Amino acid sequence: MKFTILFAIFLIFQGNKISNSFTINCDYRTRSLLVIGSVYSCDTTNIPSSSGITVTNVNGTHLSGKNNNDVTCVYINGKRTLLFVPRNFSNFFPNIKAILIWNTTIETLFGDEFDEFPKLEYFDFYYSNLTTISSKLFEKTPKMVCVWFGSNMIERVGHDLFTPLNVTQLKIVSFHNNRCINRYVNNGNTTAIISLINELREKCPFDDEFPSTTTTTSLTTTTIKNLFCTNQSIEDLVCDLKDSMIEVQENLMTKDEKIDEIREDMNQSNKIIEEIQSESREKIENIESRMQWLEEELLRLTTHPCACK
Ligand SMILES: *[C@@H]1O[C@H](CO)[C@@H](O)[C@H](O)[C@H]1NC(C)=O
Ligand SMILES: *[C@@H]1O[C@H](CO)[C@@H](O)[C@H](O)[C@H]1NC(C)=O
Ligand SMILES: *[C@@H]1O[C@H](CO)[C@@H](O)[C@H](O)[C@H]1NC(C)=O
Ligand SMILES: *[C@@H]1O[C@H](CO)[C@@H](O)[C@H](O)[C@H]1NC(C)=O
Ligand SMILES: *[C@@H]1O[C@H](CO)[C@@H](O)[C@H](O)[C@H]1NC(C)=O
Ligand SMILES: *[C@@H]1O[C@H](CO)[C@@H](O)[C@H](O)[C@H]1NC(C)=O
Ligand SMILES: *[C@@H]1O[C@H](CO)[C@@H](O)[C@H](O)[C@H]1NC(C)=O
Ligand SMILES: *[C@@H]1O[C@H](CO)[C@@H](O)[C@H](O)[C@H]1NC(C)=O
Repeated sequence: MKFTILFAIFLIFQGNKISNSFTINCDYRTRSLLVIGSVYSCDTTNIPSSSGITVTNVNGTHLSGKNNNDVTCVYINGKRTLLFVPRNFSNFFPNIKAILIWNTTIETLFGDEFDEFPKLEYFDFYYSNLTTISSKLFEKTPKMVCVWFGSNMIERVGHDLFTPLNVTQLKIVSFHNNRCINRYVNNGNTTAIISLINELREKCPFDDEFPSTTTTTSLTTTTIKNLFCTNQSIEDLVCDLKDSMIEVQENLMTKDEKIDEIREDMNQSNKIIEEIQSESREKIENIESRMQWLEEELLRLTTHPCACK
């Protein structure tokens, strides 16, 4: 067991440096969303794939008169590299009611990712490689009016995903362009929404027994990352290990830097030596040619028939 965990952690660290925490750079703007209308949004498109799980700072210039409490929307474009849902956004933006997460490589939503946003109404998880959604996803967010999962690869949807929600309040439900279903309702037709939910239960059955669906041998790196990134105790362990990894990496880095410095110094000295050599070569050549001239002149003076008397 320990070995498996270590191996998994090794996979996590392979090739990239995962840090404990990170700063989100917000581009603040007003957006107009279907159903809920105007929101003040932190747009972010630059979350590095190597960044951590927990947002520890937000950065950016608010529109005039606005502050963090006015932020009601977060839009993240994962640029096809984001592996996890960032946590602790709500520590900075306590009034989030809309979340748009596009274009990630997240495959599984384990259920507690959005628990920190009790005011959530609008959820748009468009265009990722999502295959599996836990029943628990909306357990702490009962006010949902828009649930958008269009253009993913969904195969399994927790049987009770919609149980905590009030279907008469739902206006948009999209499971358009997925593997087990291709259907959406965007006009708040409750009958149609109920029928869509029934189709999900029939065609995308999933009884939520994490993580038995992902056996050790078939765990992909992404799944492993998602798994770790959603479990606080494992996250802590990973963070501890990561700290020591970073230390090692930093040591290696300073060594590399030193070697580079020495190389540069050597290049510099080589260059100086070359310059001195070429300079002195010129001087020697100059002297040599003058010597030759003098010799010739001497010869001319002493041997020429018209030499000075
Ligand atoms: C904060 O944002 C500014 C402007 O976008 C950027 O120059 C700066 O590097 C950011 N700071 C951090 C800590 O990311
Ligand atoms: C997804 O990210 C890729 C890579 O950055 C980008 O080329 C593409 O336009 C993005 N697609 C959407 C729908 O945001
Ligand atoms: C994330 O937020 C929770 C709740 O506010 C807090 O207990 C936790 O320490 C935060 N994590 C970090 C790394 O700041
Ligand atoms: C996501 O899905 C696309 C389309 O099938 C695929 O090309 C890509 O490799 C997948 N990305 C990951 C990280 O699984
Ligand atoms: C569901 O929402 C409708 C209004 O859209 C409301 O009348 C009804 O009481 C709600 N049901 C529950 C169980 O909250
Ligand atoms: C609502 O959806 C049902 C089932 O798809 C359909 O039969 C009905 O005509 C729709 N009602 C309206 C007002 O569009
Ligand atoms: C998180 O990991 C710990 C340690 O492996 C485990 O005991 C716990 O059940 C896990 N929690 C969840 C929610 O998976
Ligand atoms: C040193 O000089 C060589 C040849 O001019 C060059 O290829 C190399 O990149 C230089 N190294 C450094 C550290 O400047």
